This record gives sequence, structure tokens and C-alpha cells, in this order.
Amino acid sequence: MEYQLKAPIKIQISNLDLFYGDFQALINVDMPVQEKLISALIGPSGCGKSTLLRCLNRMNDLIRGVRVTGKVRLDDLDIYAATTEVPELRKRVGMVFQRPNPFPLSIFDNVVYGLRVAGIKDKKRLSEIAEQSLKGAWLWDQVKDKMNHPALELPLDQQQRLCVARLLAVQPEVILMDEPCSALDPIATMKIEELMLELKKNYTIVIVTHNMQQASRVSDYTGYMLLGKMIEFNETIKIFTHPAEKLTEEYISGKYG
Ligand SMILES: Nc1ncnc2c1ncn2[C@@H]1O[C@H](COP(=O)(O)OP(=O)(O)OP(=O)(O)O)[C@@H](O)[C@H]1O
Ligand SMILES: [Mg+2]
Repeated sequence: MEYQLKAPIKIQISNLDLFYGDFQALINVDMPVQEKLISALIGPSGCGKSTLLRCLNRMNDLIRGVRVTGKVRLDDLDIYAATTEVPELRKRVGMVFQRPNPFPLSIFDNVVYGLRVAGIKDKKRLSEIAEQSLKGAWLWDQVKDKMNHPALELPLDQQQRLCVARLLAVQPEVILMDEPCSALDPIATMKIEELMLELKKNYTIVIVTHNMQQASRVSDYTGYMLLGKMIEFNETIKIFTHPAEKLTEEYISGKYG
């Protein structure tokens, strides 16, 4: 595959295979994830987008019978090395899920959850970081007067931004988003897309999306997957205007999906 990069590589995926028991869900996948850019993974349902995303912070470790071969490197860290500390890795590479998943706690307790786990107790420090993180997720104005309210009472889009704030509080380097807008209405979706563009100034982002318009609006680079393979990876504009592969062209022109 021929492509040019625009930024340093933050995560390099090389020759990655993943098996769920006997079933091979990822087949020899290669992809660079560039620093402070947005990379999108697209492709039909079941092609392995979520599986690949979960490889980037070893979320697949939680699924029984998973076997991974190949390499995923985060800067100099070999993510799949036996010595890699997975909780530490997941702090550096955080994840936002399809459905917002705030804990059944107050807004404040959600945002500072990871900090408390890390042993930070100082109330002033926690409040400062909570404010910064909520501002970073564009949620501060909406919640600053009700920090002790249950997070689950917030509207869905605010819950999703709260999940972003909860990540920002532990200062990740990479943010993984698996169809973060699929539970949201179009206006809330637009807001999250704008937020992603803002977050990209400070974070490396990888997003899975079913929505090709979304991929073309927000991402810098796009990988098109089919049946576990990375069919084509390139600048988003190229994927959507001049794909090199016939399979990519068929998909983006809506022949199947
Ligand atoms: N825990 C699991 N155990 C066994 N097979 C799985 C598991 N999770 C996913 N698979 C299979 O692996 C393949 C890739 O699934 P994955 O969820 O990564 O696809 P996807 O591209 O994210 O699909 P969607 O767009 O529907 O979310 C599918 O064939 C799926 O059935
Ligand atoms: Mg998926």
C-alpha cells in the first residue's frame, strides 16, 4: 500500500492476527496510527473494526479464548509483551464506547474515578482536575452547579461527554472511540464530532464508525476493512475520492455495507 504520513507514528500495528478460538477475526493487519491526528476504521458489520480497536489497549484480553500474534507498538512499548502493565497501558490508551457507560455515581465521582484509583485524595486537586476535564469535554457549563447529581440522570450526549471527561482526567495519550455517536441524535453527533476535532490538538484519536460521512468529516486517515483484512489505508480524502482498491470503491459507493 502506498501512502504518505503527515505526523509521527504513535501506534504501529504490524502483521497482526487475532483468533477467537478457531475463528480468525484479524488477518495480517498493518496500520500506522499517527500522533494528534484522527484515524477512522470503516467497513461492513463484522469485518473486525471493534476487534482491531480493542487490540490497541488490550481490551481483548478480557475475552476468553483470544489469541493474538504480530506486533502493536505504542511509542517504544510493545503492547503485547508479557511484561507490559495493562492498567498502565489503558491509562495511556483510553476508550469511549458505543453506549455511554457512566458509573452509577455522581458526576463528580465519575470524573475523578481514575484519579482516586490512582490514590489521589486531595479534594482541591480532584476538584481542579474535574473542572479541567469537564471543560475539555465541553461539559463544564452544563454540570458545574450539579456535580453531586447522579451521572445517569444526564441526557445521553452529556453522558457520553462525561465519559470523555473521565478519560481526560487520567491524561491519556490516545483515545479510542467505538461508534461513539451511534446512540446519539444528529445534533448531539455533530457536537461530539466537533469535540473530536478539538481533542485532536492534544490527543491521538482512533474512531470506529459505520457512518462514512462521519469518517470523511472528522478523520485524517481511514482504514477500510473487510473480513478481517485491512484492504486499504490512506488519507481519508484519497479513500473517499480515489481509492486504489476496487473493494474500497465498491464499499464507499454503497454497493454493499
Ligand atoms: N467475543 C467474540 N467471540 C467470538 N467471535 C467474535 C467475538 N467478538 C467478535 N467476534 C467475531 O469477530 C468478527 C469481527 O467482529 P467485530 O465486532 O470486531 O466486527 P465490527 O467490524 O466491529 O462489526 P460491527 O460493525 O457490527 O460492530 C465477527 O465475525 C464477529 O462475529
Ligand atoms: Mg464493532
